[in-house]
Amino acid sequence: MVYSWRVFALNPDTTAETQLVLPNTIAVDGPAGSGKSTVSFAVAQRIGYLFFDTGAFYRAIALLALEQHVDMNNPDEVVALAQRVNLDMTPDLKNDGRQCTILADGRDITPHIHDPEVDAHVSVVAAIPGVRRTLLDVQRAIAQRGQIIMAGRDIGTIVLPDADLKLFIDASLEQRARRRYQQRLDKGEPADLASIREGLQARDTLDSGRAVAPLLRAPDAIYVDTSDLTLEQSVEAVYRLIMEWRPPR
Ligand code: DC
Repeated sequence: MVYSWRVFALNPDTTAETQLVLPNTIAVDGPAGSGKSTVSFAVAQRIGYLFFDTGAFYRAIALLALEQHVDMNNPDEVVALAQRVNLDMTPDLKNDGRQCTILADGRDITPHIHDPEVDAHVSVVAAIPGVRRTLLDVQRAIAQRGQIIMAGRDIGTIVLPDADLKLFIDASLEQRARRRYQQRLDKGEPADLASIREGLQARDTLDSGRAVAPLLRAPDAIYVDTSDLTLEQSVEAVYRLIMEWRPPR
């Protein structure tokens, strides 16, 4: 894959020395609750990049399977569903906390992809090889739009192995559970720390242990541990890594 780099002008009087060249494609992987989406979204807003959290597409398939009463334990049925639906994303934001808009055959399904029922089924859907194969091409086509931060579990390893910059954002299980717990409380939802921790651990095991495209750190990905960082500090750390990036000579 050949990418072009974007020259980022900090101000209109930019001289050669103050011009920055930014990585055109940025791959961000990490476990559930690591903060990779929140941090990547904030950084994308700051540098004017598209942000796409690829988990949304696996969530979309799980949601449609629930809506259409597709048997999620029958991989052929789920793959057929993935093949017949036209998934897309746009940078459109609404005042409901979304980081982009997810469209299924043109229908905005964004408000439903984080429903608890979707949470409960999405790991099974994401472990089906035919579903991953089908979504691979769609994700790569979206990356071709360029100036994009793409987040997921296999972006640096499988979806965009030639991404200009790869980051692996991680945090301890305890910290990730605490963050999810706080997010629920902030939304006024009931929350139990122990069950959130258990849920995250179960998803870690499923995502890292599955046969196809397990959660893995690409050898050339920069490891960012946000366990002891606030959100602002994490955003700053990732922003700095992007600014410090230089094209290979
Ligand atoms: O990041 P998330 O919680 O929205 O991800 C939802 C599910 O999709 C989760 O089980 C991991 C899986 N996923 C994946 O297998 N590959 C990706 N690139 C992104 C998410």
